[in-house]
Amino acid sequence: MRFVVLASGTGSNARALIEACQGGHCAAEPVALVSDRTDAGALTMAEDLGLPTAVLPLGRREDRQRWDQDLTEHLHGYQPDLIVLAGFMRLLGPATVKRFSGRMINVHPSLLPAFAGLRAPEQALRARVAISGCTVHVVDQGMDTGPILAQAALVVDPRQSASELHERIKGLERTLLPRVVHAIALGGLDLTAPLQGQNPVSSLVQRSIHSL
Ligand code: GRF
Repeated sequence: MRFVVLASGTGSNARALIEACQGGHCAAEPVALVSDRTDAGALTMAEDLGLPTAVLPLGRREDRQRWDQDLTEHLHGYQPDLIVLAGFMRLLGPATVKRFSGRMINVHPSLLPAFAGLRAPEQALRARVAISGCTVHVVDQGMDTGPILAQAALVVDPRQSASELHERIKGLERTLLPRVVHAIALGGLDLTAPLQGQNPVSSLVQRSIHSL
């Protein structure tokens, strides 16, 4: 199963995923890392791991539709079975989401549907929740609204800052994301209809967690 990673930031999730594949712990093949930012640490990280990279910066706001088209065509060129958003800080355009419908997943630092959008750990602290965590979900047209595939939780320490909570959550993300991708690769699941009755990806994740 070929996949492309989209990342805008440091890329610690992308690194964990790529290294899991290269180390034989995730049965999927990373084919490229694409960023919207020339200064993304994820780019150097991917190059260090021998992965092709590309940058498609979004220029002026009025170029937005053109950027969506370019990104869609560029991603299509890799012939990916899956696209993984790992800290990609742009909402994808409707045409991009439609083109890769059921083949795109995202990792988010909260227990969705709580705290979608930006600064999720800060939102969680403000709401004084006792438990938070991360979610891997299918990407749909909304912001962090697609069907949930898997979650991992932790107990919130209210004395910690938002960035400390985020770092702890990212520790969970780096474990969960490779396992979800592994489960998808093993199961060949159709992510367009993942949530009929029992969540098949979650049960596969359980099995793959035990087998790792
Ligand atoms: C992660 O918390 C991810 O859930 C969110 O952005 C962050 C990316 O971190 N969407 P990194 O760049 O992978 O370190």
